Amino acid sequence: MTYPYTRYLAAKRTVDDRALNRRVLDDLRELVPAHRPRVLEVGAGLGTMVARLVEWRVLDAGEYTLLDVDRQLLQDSRAWLTAWAGGRGLPVDPQPDGLLLGDLRVRLVEAELGAHLDAGRGDPVDVLVAHAVLDVVDVPAVLPGLLRLLAPGGAYWFTVTFDGDTIFAPDHPADDDMLGAYHASMDDRVRYGRPAGESRAGRHLFHRLRDAGAPVLSSGSSDWVVHAGPDGRYPGDEAWFLDFVLGTVGTALAGRVPPATLADWLAARRRQLADGDLVYIAHQLDVLGRAPGAAPV
Ligand SMILES: C[S@@+](CC[C@H](N)C(=O)[O-])C[C@H]1O[C@@H](n2cnc3c(N)ncnc32)[C@H](O)[C@@H]1O
Repeated sequence: MTYPYTRYLAAKRTVDDRALNRRVLDDLRELVPAHRPRVLEVGAGLGTMVARLVEWRVLDAGEYTLLDVDRQLLQDSRAWLTAWAGGRGLPVDPQPDGLLLGDLRVRLVEAELGAHLDAGRGDPVDVLVAHAVLDVVDVPAVLPGLLRLLAPGGAYWFTVTFDGDTIFAPDHPADDDMLGAYHASMDDRVRYGRPAGESRAGRHLFHRLRDAGAPVLSSGSSDWVVHAGPDGRYPGDEAWFLDFVLGTVGTALAGRVPPATLADWLAARRRQLADGDLVYIAHQLDVLGRAPGAAPV
């Protein structure tokens, strides 16, 4: 797989594994129907979450739809999930629109989320997942349509939503300027012709979900914390993950900060990465709740 974003999402898996809030996850287990749940994950990327939920014994049967706007990621998802399942001895059966992983039917749907919701497509689901996505879409615009996809009594699990703080250590004199501008770039980002997220998306979910009739029932932080071990090596492919994050920050900042300051800051961060000295922390939140209209628990 040569698509850099595919490698980024695969490398991000171990970072997310550590970050996901386990108390919220345990509360999710209580809300997943025991018999063949129907799950929709929006902005699903490569499908690492479906693999994780099978590994963590949250799911083993039913239907899991991966919806994403990026065709290449969905194509790579077939190969990635097939390799993952092969490594676990799980039978894989390719299907025209996805694949069967044991008793779990995985469907791949290529769609832009806003257009998908505007078109009123999709059958009701028992569980709606959005992982590392609600900070890159226009939540006020998509939330009502997303919640309408939930069957009565269904659950949403919105995880790793960025919330306003990016930290690199050791300190650099340009950090405040660089990271302030980075967060500002999130607030006026446009993708696929639509507003695409904000830097404080995580904290804003609480009131947005309450106002939509689906208040948060369980929540917790899911910060990414990435550092090298005592031997100076980063776990898994996390050095590559960090290099991709620095590239993303650099791209977002181009034209927003003085080029020489940006070049100096990025060069310092890349040297620290090569030396196993760079620490990266991103503050994020996980929230869990039920479809609007559910009786209080
Ligand atoms: C940060 S990635 C997270 C992917 C995956 N959930 C994960 O964490 O591995 C965001 C994903 O959302 C998808 N995405 C972003 N905007 C979208 C939109 N408007 N409609 C559908 N998918 C979108 C991207 O293609 C990308 O795969």
